[in-house]
Amino acid sequence: MSSKEFFDRVARDWDEMREEYYSDEVRVGALAAAGVEKGKTAADIGAGTGFITQGLIQEGLRVIAVDQSEAILNEMKRKFGDIDTIDYRVGNAQDLPIPDETVDYAFANMCLHHVESPPDAIREMARILRPGGRIVITDADEHDFEFLREEHHDRWLGFNRSDIKAWFQAAGLSDVCVGSIGTCCEVLSTCRDDLARIGIFVASGEKRAGL
Ligand SMILES: C[S@@+](CC[C@H](N)C(=O)[O-])C[C@H]1O[C@@H](n2cnc3c(N)ncnc32)[C@H](O)[C@@H]1O
Repeated sequence: MSSKEFFDRVARDWDEMREEYYSDEVRVGALAAAGVEKGKTAADIGAGTGFITQGLIQEGLRVIAVDQSEAILNEMKRKFGDIDTIDYRVGNAQDLPIPDETVDYAFANMCLHHVESPPDAIREMARILRPGGRIVITDADEHDFEFLREEHHDRWLGFNRSDIKAWFQAAGLSDVCVGSIGTCCEVLSTCRDDLARIGIFVASGEKRAGL
């Protein structure tokens, strides 16, 4: 099963599953790292059912929510209704359906460990940012819980923070910071007696003018 098929299948249950895995503190930390301002536009990449989008619209931003799974975006639409501050787009994180330099912020929460090439996804997020805009990625620290590959179709077992920093810098971002969000992700295996307790990092960087 591919990651897309997995998220198509769990779309209806994702909110309940997510609440078991990580808390709203992740969203609070991600929005704080971006320093979001009312009236601006943000992209939420791998938006799922709108965990990050929810905070952004509450802060008065417009959101372009992108996900590979149409089923999970439909679930998000069912939740938020047809409000005109959310633009739903089916698409791939490595080839975003968003023109160059059109958003002020680009977020990706727990999406990067599913994409084929994380550095390419970061470059895509940098491409769509306006000069002065910020990228914020929140994801799992490097771990060795192999069951997450089988049970959750994770492609990468988290990330080393220095790799993340290097990929942000290679995408031309400045003022790059990678630190802990201060809370963990916990996933109980459904097939064996194993509980994954994994740190969560928050990485942010700014697009300089002229890139
Ligand atoms: C773990 S869920 C996180 C969803 C949401 N950001 C949240 O925090 O609840 C990962 C999401 O990323 C999406 N995703 C995975 N790989 C993707 C890709 N290459 N392009 C776009 N979306 C992707 C999945 O369909 C899924 O909705």
